[in-house]
Amino acid sequence: MENTIDDLKKPAHLAPPSGGRGGESIHVFAPATVANVVCGFDVLGFAVDEPGDEVIMRVTGKPGITISKITGDDGRLPLDPAKNTVSVSVQHYLQSVGRSDIGLDIELHKKMPIGSGLGSSSASTVAGLFAIKTLLGDDSDPIKLLPFAMKGEEMACGHGHADNVAPALFGGFVLIRSYEPLDVVRLPHPKNLWCAIVFPDVDVPTREARQIIRKNIQMKDAVTQWGNIAGLVSGLFMQDIDLIGRSMKDVLVEPVRSMLIPDFYKMREMAMELGAVSFGISGSGPSVFAFTRDEATARSITQKLQQHLTGLKIGSNSYVSTINDAGPKVLG
Ligand code: HSE
Repeated sequence: MENTIDDLKKPAHLAPPSGGRGGESIHVFAPATVANVVCGFDVLGFAVDEPGDEVIMRVTGKPGITISKITGDDGRLPLDPAKNTVSVSVQHYLQSVGRSDIGLDIELHKKMPIGSGLGSSSASTVAGLFAIKTLLGDDSDPIKLLPFAMKGEEMACGHGHADNVAPALFGGFVLIRSYEPLDVVRLPHPKNLWCAIVFPDVDVPTREARQIIRKNIQMKDAVTQWGNIAGLVSGLFMQDIDLIGRSMKDVLVEPVRSMLIPDFYKMREMAMELGAVSFGISGSGPSVFAFTRDEATARSITQKLQQHLTGLKIGSNSYVSTINDAGPKVLG
């Protein structure tokens, strides 16, 4: 027997044992994200309009979660619900709301490359969590989903950072002020800030990109870094794009991770010459991004950087958007 949406909205002990129309489903999109935003390792991130992942979730009659289909992953992601970050996060959520009795089937449609530095696992996990929250009619604050989404990150790369999942969930620009206790702050941003993203098609798994960074840092580097983070946050509040640009410098992580990205410094030089406000690594890479003041500059940067990568015999994808304030959305 299938559950109905009305059944789902009831606490488990009240749900009728059988009956109902069944077949309810939801189709959700969640956006890619740029984590770190150059100087804010693990504490800053923002969402973009594209790319993003999609989840179709259907209510079934049999308790438990199945994954019937994953597309766009070249067979890299597990269909086993015990091993997939989407199903595991959804399962944790269901347990927390006392609804492990529900049966769900998940289809995951990856619309962005895996291991790209664009929060690929986060987009999938957030789409799944937003889908079940909406199906259940759970109108509590989306912040309640964040710990479940962070569990998905921990599973995907060995560390439960929130700088991809939080902006994927809330949209916009997000600061993780503290992890223990979790304290997340939504930041304003200038409306005319455009983001040009280029993904060079080389694989940089986040787990490995985290292992190579230094564990100890010099006080003088810490001073530089926190000055820049404060400058970036101030620039966002003040809508001061010059201040945003000159604050986006990273003396801690970028010097190490840039080695994993083909011609990183050449691409930065090209982007800045073409009028970028700032340029850096998106998340753990290999994607790079530039902020610009307009769409035309963003498009000329993606075009020139992709041409450059083609010259190096490296395939690439690019995306141009403003900052996505909406976060996840129901497509049907
Ligand atoms: N803050 C994380 C990192 C983001 O840089 O490892 C991963 O996308």
